[in-house]
Amino acid sequence: MLISGRGSNLRALLAACTDASYPAEVVSVVSDRVEAPGLAFAQSSGICSTTIPYRDRQTFATRVETLLRDQGVQLVCLAGFMRVLDAAFVEAWRDRIINIHPSLLPAFPGLRAQSQALAAGVRFTGCTVHFVRPEVDAGPILAQAVVPTRPDDDEATLSARILSVEHRVYPLAVRMIAEDRVQVVAGKVEIRGWRAPKLAMLNPREPLRRSPASGWSQTQVGL
Ligand code: GRF
Repeated sequence: MLISGRGSNLRALLAACTDASYPAEVVSVVSDRVEAPGLAFAQSSGICSTTIPYRDRQTFATRVETLLRDQGVQLVCLAGFMRVLDAAFVEAWRDRIINIHPSLLPAFPGLRAQSQALAAGVRFTGCTVHFVRPEVDAGPILAQAVVPTRPDDDEATLSARILSVEHRVYPLAVRMIAEDRVQVVAGKVEIRGWRAPKLAMLNPREPLRRSPASGWSQTQVGL
């Protein structure tokens, strides 16, 4: 995993890996920042942890490449990794690097996606796990989860709501890849043997209706 900071998605993946039936393991954590809290957590969990200071794109990519090869890494997971990766490195690892982003891409790529969503006034936002391409926050979409915005949201409350679904979606995405269910075909992800959820969402909820028996009640929406 490549991280730059807090590492809560790293923790979520490590937690998933404690289940004996989980089909992947985290073999290595790399950070461009020595003070990243996620790096300390990985160290304390006994995961091989390395700091590679970022001088320039190419030098960083060369050092990461050597490390990944030495450690027999099969999939690179970016989680809060705040640097743009070298395009040649990304191409060399095509469809073997994934990223998680706190919006429903292609909406709100780049920094502060949660603030962008609030500024746009969207009713729903969420998170996206996607294969990485040289362009920032672009690439075939593997999994998304939706969260509603609330009228009193600020960046912190919305980020926390999105983060709680990130922690479910990222381990799920890694599981689907490790189980060899995922293929990129003509720029889109195909997933074998996974059911789509039966769920409809409306935000704001439908208006309350007065019913003689029960007073005001919320209309139920579902599929
Ligand atoms: C997450 O919101 C992720 O979507 C974004 O950066 C944040 C990383 O959080 N790319 P953490 O370091 O995993 O806690």
